[in-house]
Amino acid sequence: MGGSILDMQVTRDIASTRAAVAAARRAGRRIGCVPTMGALHVGHLSLMEAAKRDGTFVAVSIFVNPTQFGPNEDLESYPRDEAGDLAACEQVGVDLVFLPPAAEMYPPAAATTVHVSGLTETLCGAHRPVHFDGVTTIVAKLFNIIQPDVAYFGQKDAQQLAVIRRMTRDLDLPVEIVGCPTVREADGLAVSSRNAYLDDAQRKQASCLFRALGEAQARIETGAADPTAVIDAMRRIVDDAGPAVIDYISVVDPESMQPVQRIERPVLVALAVRIGSTRLIDNLQVDPRPTGG
Ligand code: PAJ
Repeated sequence: MGGSILDMQVTRDIASTRAAVAAARRAGRRIGCVPTMGALHVGHLSLMEAAKRDGTFVAVSIFVNPTQFGPNEDLESYPRDEAGDLAACEQVGVDLVFLPPAAEMYPPAAATTVHVSGLTETLCGAHRPVHFDGVTTIVAKLFNIIQPDVAYFGQKDAQQLAVIRRMTRDLDLPVEIVGCPTVREADGLAVSSRNAYLDDAQRKQASCLFRALGEAQARIETGAADPTAVIDAMRRIVDDAGPAVIDYISVVDPESMQPVQRIERPVLVALAVRIGSTRLIDNLQVDPRPTGG
């Protein structure tokens, strides 16, 4: 049922969410959707602010989606802060927060999965086999419940963004997908809910991801065309920063997510590194000819 904090509506079931969105649409509003898993930080807020700037009725979903976590991942320990999240949404001027319990999103007999092939099989998909099926299934459901005109996703999760763009195109979902720039800490570390797991030494070490991306960018912009050399240089930076397990460092095509043999067009440089038990990801799109020359 709907509750409210000042003007902001909070819903926990599908029917009242549909009713709230329908009322906004009848009032002539475009609907902007920001799917999240909560533990909101400035990265999430930047998506909500983009939706606000576009003048949409901003509908934020907060749902720690169990189907996108593998059996040995951090579903149980994933940070949750409903009161803090609602206060943050209110502050930004969000219109509707949809906070469903798991049973609302996954009734016991649910048997349907949305699967995007190919571009889910590299990078994070190679290391998290069920992850993207969970993401596409929940995002398709959220799109059907909220029926947004436009939905906002972070470039921080570049593969997720590409997968959602592809799903939306392939299934003719009438939703415009907007990618938003990665919000970073002062030392370049991408803001993430999982950064809270790092102790002080690990937090310092974690800046190696961004430094490695900077090295890749400098090399590619000055003519490095062999991805292997770029990846080796990045690997050295990560290795020198302290004990870590590199899940992957890759140079891929930004749409297909497949590794490139030579760097001749804009590429996505992406890495995933485990520091202690915390898995961090980051990426940068790099153009070998930044001046277009
Ligand atoms: P979550 O990790 O909560 O992220 C929600 C959105 O915030 C995603 O689009 C993500 O890319 C964006 N985001 C996270 N950190 C960011 C940063 N530092 N700068 C800019 N954007 C950032 O991604 C998910 O949740 C889930 O997979 C979801 C799409 C909600 C499906 O369950």
